[in-house]
Amino acid sequence: MGWFRRVTGTHLLLSLVVCLPFWSHQPPQDVEAATPWGQDYFPNTPLVTQDGQSVRFFDDLIKDKVVAINFIFTGCSDSCPVETARLRQVQKILGDRVGRDIFLYSISIDPYNDTPATLKRYAEKFGLGPGWTLLTGEADDIEQLRRRLGLFIEGLENGRSKDHNLSLIIGNQATGRWMKASPFESPYILADRLGNSLHNWKNPSQLSNDYAHAPPVRPPSTGEQIYRTRCSSCHSLGDGLPEQRGIGPDLLGVTRQRDARWLVNWLKAPEQMLANKDPLAMLLYEQYNRLAMPNMRLGDTEVAALLTYLEEETQRIQTPAQR
Ligand code: HEC
Repeated sequence: MGWFRRVTGTHLLLSLVVCLPFWSHQPPQDVEAATPWGQDYFPNTPLVTQDGQSVRFFDDLIKDKVVAINFIFTGCSDSCPVETARLRQVQKILGDRVGRDIFLYSISIDPYNDTPATLKRYAEKFGLGPGWTLLTGEADDIEQLRRRLGLFIEGLENGRSKDHNLSLIIGNQATGRWMKASPFESPYILADRLGNSLHNWKNPSQLSNDYAHAPPVRPPSTGEQIYRTRCSSCHSLGDGLPEQRGIGPDLLGVTRQRDARWLVNWLKAPEQMLANKDPLAMLLYEQYNRLAMPNMRLGDTEVAALLTYLEEETQRIQTPAQR
């Protein structure tokens, strides 16, 4: 871990029980008295940003802030891109409040491979905007931080397979309100929590979503449910505003544009199609910033339900065959 030691200089031994008396040179603040989860609870873990800047977890990242924190690693091809894509939507909904009164942090659980430069490339690939910091550090420190945040599951941490806990924690350090959130939740709900409820509703809602624009209520089909939870983080379906453009292509009309067999194969194993150098798969991969669609582990029934939904939605929106 040479690169990290060079950046931070010292290695701090943090323990679960003894909490950081050396940093208490700062006068205690009123807000900390108000919440049981102040400086004494959170470690002041030394971390390094994608720009190579050294920061401390408590002092620099969360103190008096509304934050969303998740743990990722850039070599992860399944769950992390989905999480990152979801948070990216949340960031787009919140606009320039991110970096002003809401801060997003993705901390690497693979600090051996995730150097600041690697994280920077990842941020660029996903088009992550300002106010979203990617961080890496010392492996032991990061594990301890995950335990503290309740985002570490014993037994799931089997060596380097890193089947890590798919969770996001959001909170307001000053008020002591913290909650786990699923990255599969609607981005509007996550944005609303970060933008309104965690700020105690002191800001007028800036979300353009209101009842006047709500679509008529239809009971969601199985396909629609799968689409909303598993696909909508990266794709739009005729509903993407230009500034909300997803990581992947808009899917309206895709069932008419592509061969049915190709779609089934693609949905079941996109990485196989790339490995087999399927020309269309290769073309899409190049077009979409070389960001591979993850294998979403869909069974035949799910694939069929999804394709039915994509076709029905295309019919409903009535933009026949044009994308
Ligand atoms: C993490 C992001 C992500 C998720 C989640 C995701 N996709 Fe994709 N998808 C992509 C990207 C990126 C592409 C473009 C091809 C590439 O780069 O691999 C793509 C391509 C596609 C295509 C081909 C589009 C075309 O023009 O032929 C289809 C169909 C598709 N995805 C459907 C789905 C469905 C259905 C789901 C949910 C089960 C899903 N995707 C989940 C990122 C994602």
